[in-house]
Amino acid sequence: MPMRSQHGRRVVRHLFVCTNGRSSGKPACGPRGGEAIVAGVQRELIARRALGVLITDSGCLGPCFDGPNAVVYPDGVWYSGLTEGDAAALVDHLIDGTQLAAKLSHRPGAEPDSSPDGDSADPERSGDGGDTGDHGNDRQR
Ligand code: FES
Repeated sequence: MPMRSQHGRRVVRHLFVCTNGRSSGKPACGPRGGEAIVAGVQRELIARRALGVLITDSGCLGPCFDGPNAVVYPDGVWYSGLTEGDAAALVDHLIDGTQLAAKLSHRPGAEPDSSPDGDSADPERSGDGGDTGDHGNDRQR
């Protein structure tokens, strides 16, 4: 069954970008550029007159230390370390499914990374879960 927006329009892909802010000192995607990424993707979608795709800013997605983070559904593709300069590539993914290989990430809860730096195996760098009350809101764009 195809995804639909709240207005009943067919949605091919939906990008969620973390714009979470936080006062505890733990890294958060909002102050690290999440809002600029959302704005950049929106500008690119408007410029291309893209249909059938959505972008929503979101609260914490989990892997805070790796942010800014985003996920594309229904593909289930996660990105980390994004910048505003990745906006056009993110829109490519939304429109035609082309993934931004340089920024691919592991989804939270996945098996630990077997790469030499072992980032994902460090519990300090995985999943958020503990910070409540400072997550952003979700708004349709
Ligand atoms: S603050 Fe963005 S993933 Fe946690």
